[in-house]
Amino acid sequence: MSGICEGRTVVVTGAGRGLGRAHALAFAAEGAHVVVNDLGVGLDGAPDADSPAAQVVAEIRAAGGEAVAHGGDIATTEGANSLITTALETYGRLDTLVNNAGFLRDRMLVNLDEDDWDAVMRVHLKGHFLPLKQAAAYWRAEAKAGRMPVARVVNTSSGAGLLGSVGQGNYSAAKAGIVGLTLVAAAEFARYGVQVNAIAPAARTRMTEQAFAQTMAAPGSGFDAMAPENVSPLVVWLGSAGSEGVSGRVFEVEGGRITVMEGWRVGPSTDKGERWTPKEAGETARKLLEEAGTPGQVYGA
Ligand SMILES: NC(=O)c1ccc[n+]([C@@H]2O[C@H](COP(=O)([O-])OP(=O)(O)OC[C@H]3O[C@@H](n4cnc5c(N)ncnc54)[C@H](O)[C@@H]3O)[C@@H](O)[C@H]2O)c1
Repeated sequence: MSGICEGRTVVVTGAGRGLGRAHALAFAAEGAHVVVNDLGVGLDGAPDADSPAAQVVAEIRAAGGEAVAHGGDIATTEGANSLITTALETYGRLDTLVNNAGFLRDRMLVNLDEDDWDAVMRVHLKGHFLPLKQAAAYWRAEAKAGRMPVARVVNTSSGAGLLGSVGQGNYSAAKAGIVGLTLVAAAEFARYGVQVNAIAPAARTRMTEQAFAQTMAAPGSGFDAMAPENVSPLVVWLGSAGSEGVSGRVFEVEGGRITVMEGWRVGPSTDKGERWTPKEAGETARKLLEEAGTPGQVYGA
């Protein structure tokens, strides 16, 4: 297949369903060879019987594309390493990594168990870090061997990570962490030809089917604004050579809308040149807050 990713090998984690599946199909349609990873777990991360990665590979091949399945857990060193090895052994190269796999364990903070905290941190943060580290080791070796990569990483944050979301303290913290990881990886890997960006998507998947049951389509337009397929075109472009010069950025993507998110930046500031008393510090903080912009509202607040 020809397209903007022709000749590239792309790994997508959690690509057996939802957004990851849509990304994998979209990359294949643009000519990429795709490694479709999915452990096949339930909505809360509990083991599940089906093998969704193999089904997506079959769909890609039926459409004339090229793909291979990987069923490992990306939040383990063994799973992450074998994922990258699958790309290299099957297609001889790796060009793009899309970190997407994840699940939810939503509770109000006072009711949140340690296990639910750990499981969500593990799948999102460790599940981004380990494949990223392994892919970057390959790209660094390529760069050192004189073959400068045109490599791309697309990480998956969330509006919950950018603004916060009531009932999702663990998930919001993990998804905010993914933004920090994206910024550092973009800075560290630039010298190896690797660009790293993040998306904060919104789409109707099993994860959000209750929240997004209504399609929000303009009446009669036939456009399903909450279809996961709407998110994938930007991911494919970010994962292509054509996104040259774009790194360390976060995009919200939903329906037909693409938004550049502008994150923490230095705001109003005062330097006394010596230590404040607590009373003075409070008065100064209040004055600075009057000059500062209003933060976005926490989802569900
Ligand atoms: N759907 C949305 O509106 C939305 C909004 C913001 C962020 N996200 C994020 O987008 C990503 C995809 O979510 P989705 O809505 O498509 O959910 P989904 O449940 O449909 O798909 C996630 C997939 O990840 C797989 N997975 C889970 N743990 C894994 C592991 N350890 N190793 C390999 N695969 C694993 C699951 O089996 C599942 O197929 C997630 O990171 C999610 O947090 C989704």
